[in-house]
Amino acid sequence: MSERTAISAYLSENAKLIEASLRISLPSAWDVPMRLREAMLYSLEAGGKRLRPALVLSAAEAVHGKPEARNSAIPIACAVEFIHTYSLIHDDLPAMDNDDFRRGKPTNHKIFGEAMAILAGDALLTHAFHLIPQAARQGAIPADTALAIVEDLAKLAGAPGMVGGQVADMLGEQGITSIDELEYIHLHKTSDLIVFSVTAGGRIGGATDKQLELLSRYGRNIGLAFQIQDDILDLIGDEQKLGKKTNSDVEQNKVTYPFLIGLEESKAQVERLTQEAKSAVLEAQFQAPERLLEIADYLVKRDH
Ligand code: IPE
Ligand code: IPE
Ligand code: MG
Ligand code: MG
Ligand code: MG
Repeated sequence: MSERTAISAYLSENAKLIEASLRISLPSAWDVPMRLREAMLYSLEAGGKRLRPALVLSAAEAVHGKPEARNSAIPIACAVEFIHTYSLIHDDLPAMDNDDFRRGKPTNHKIFGEAMAILAGDALLTHAFHLIPQAARQGAIPADTALAIVEDLAKLAGAPGMVGGQVADMLGEQGITSIDELEYIHLHKTSDLIVFSVTAGGRIGGATDKQLELLSRYGRNIGLAFQIQDDILDLIGDEQKLGKKTNSDVEQNKVTYPFLIGLEESKAQVERLTQEAKSAVLEAQFQAPERLLEIADYLVKRDH
């Protein structure tokens, strides 16, 4: 890339890179029931911002210094989108948030039925753990990097991570009270996968332990800001732009940041967390920190 592109163009360029790989990630030679393959691809190809995969690529680029560093990170970027997409399918189920629209289309269970939606989610989750060792076998990343990434993903997407956060979110519907409990929910249901994305990219780019720690801090802060913004948009966003229904949180009795601390204070919190995140990136002295800094700012202004 000779000319420097604006951040939105950079993100759509990353999304294109990812989407080209996502499409061929599930080997066509595998004997998979046709309806299952359709259900998986329905949600995977529905669009979405592709934020988490973009963060994998951008963190690799930041640490390594060259945009080309993104190439070896692509399979891991796909893996995180597989996990994220499964989490959305399950999140929308009647037993969870009971939502009918996602990524501008009817939710997976509305088209394929609940049982297939559950199983499509299971298959997406499982396949993420196939993609990572494959990346090592094909020489994109060293085997010990793949091991570390698998370990991180199992933890950050699992019981002490995203799944734990989703459980706390469900239990919270019964009447959570404190801001600490709400922070726990947001940090785990949303920040943990974002922390995974930036640290995996960092590992691929060759980050030091100190840099990994600072990438985690960046991820934790933009992740929390991202979920608070999601809560804000659930109240005041545009359904067309979001591709999902607003007021889902009110209908499900969710306790959110706007509910607990008000809309204005929530917006101020998003700004504060973004500054925190950027200072972690600056402290890490990456070769090319700009994209991570720009993404943090871009997310504050997002309307979808
Ligand atoms: C939605 O994530 C779920 C949250 C954790 C808030 P995104 O807003 O990244 O959804 P897509 O991938 O763009 O559809
Ligand atoms: C979803 O949070 C978090 C995960 C899927 C892990 P939300 O329930 O707020 O996400 P949306 O608003 O449905 O996208
Ligand atoms: Mg939810
Ligand atoms: Mg939801
Ligand atoms: Mg939400």
